[in-house]
Amino acid sequence: MPTKVTIFNNGPIRLEGDFTMQDAAGNVYGLGGRTAIGLCRCGLSSKKPFCDGQHGKAGFESLCEAHDLPEAKPKV
Ligand code: FES
Repeated sequence: MPTKVTIFNNGPIRLEGDFTMQDAAGNVYGLGGRTAIGLCRCGLSSKKPFCDGQHGKAGFESLCEAHDLPEAKPKV
């Protein structure tokens, strides 16, 4: 299953499907067999980068509607 990314209004970014996750040093996160996870978008999770539900308690508000990005600039 290809990776699906869903941006939830007022909440996390959900990743589903076939993916791996690593930190900046290249260390892989053990996901315990999960095929779907939520990534914190509010900055308040105590389990970053994963969502722990704090966005709801804090009243995080961010509405994201899909839109197109401008053309990518050529890399020099
Ligand atoms: S988005 Fe859920 S804790 Fe930040």
